[in-house]
Amino acid sequence: MLSLKDIKKSYCGNQVIRGISLEVPQNSFYGIIGRSGAGKSTLVRLMSLLERPDSGEILFDGERADVLKSKALLAKRRSLGMVFQQFNLFSSRNVFDNVAYPLEIIGAKKESIAPRVRELLAWVDLSEKETSPVSRLSGGQKQRVAIARALANNPSLLFCDEPTSALDPQTTVSILELLKKIRKEMGLTVIMISHQMEVISATCNFVAELEQGAIVSVKELKHA
Ligand SMILES: Nc1ncnc2c1ncn2[C@@H]1O[C@H](COP(=O)(O)OP(=O)(O)OP(=O)(O)O)[C@@H](O)[C@H]1O
Ligand SMILES: [Mg+2]
Repeated sequence: MLSLKDIKKSYCGNQVIRGISLEVPQNSFYGIIGRSGAGKSTLVRLMSLLERPDSGEILFDGERADVLKSKALLAKRRSLGMVFQQFNLFSSRNVFDNVAYPLEIIGAKKESIAPRVRELLAWVDLSEKETSPVSRLSGGQKQRVAIARALANNPSLLFCDEPTSALDPQTTVSILELLKKIRKEMGLTVIMISHQMEVISATCNFVAELEQGAIVSVKELKHA
């Protein structure tokens, strides 16, 4: 579904991604593990087309995506969901309006937005919080809103960059369970970054280990 071929990226002459090739199978829960500074977030920004590699190829279903420009690039990006460690919600918007945002910017019809938002809030078990300001939510609830928002445009791929690193262990488990359920029941492919093996092994069926900008191993995990 997603292939990287010899991707390289430098910042100011400092090579951060040193020739990464990997294959993410359709419907997999793919983990990328590595220490702080290994290049995990950079790799996710490249895979999610937020940044362009200096060289190498990025293919979605066999089609080059790293060469897309303007409108086609925007459309492709919108088919990819993103979830971050710090939630990145709009603090001035309530729960409903955060989830509605990606639908508003693609110009979805107003009457189609509310049922879709409610469906997503039901998925993440936040139906009762529709009108709450996000500032009054717990970290776990904020991450659920962020997940619902990431799913609004029916992405085929969901990228999660340290989605549970700001959460306590119990909340971490509930967010990981939610991601597993979404992958299974929505038929998504999930790519998750973490520096914790226990987070990866609780969810992923593949794990790639990143060290100083290079993949040093890829393993298949059986039980996920
Ligand atoms: N926009 C940028 N400009 C310059 N250097 C950058 C930029 N983004 C990342 N880097 C550098 O690239 C390296 C990898 O950073 P990255 O954020 O990808 O690591 P990470 O594995 O996500 O780390 P962490 O676990 O701390 O989030 C670091 O040395 C960082 O300083
Ligand atoms: Mg990072």
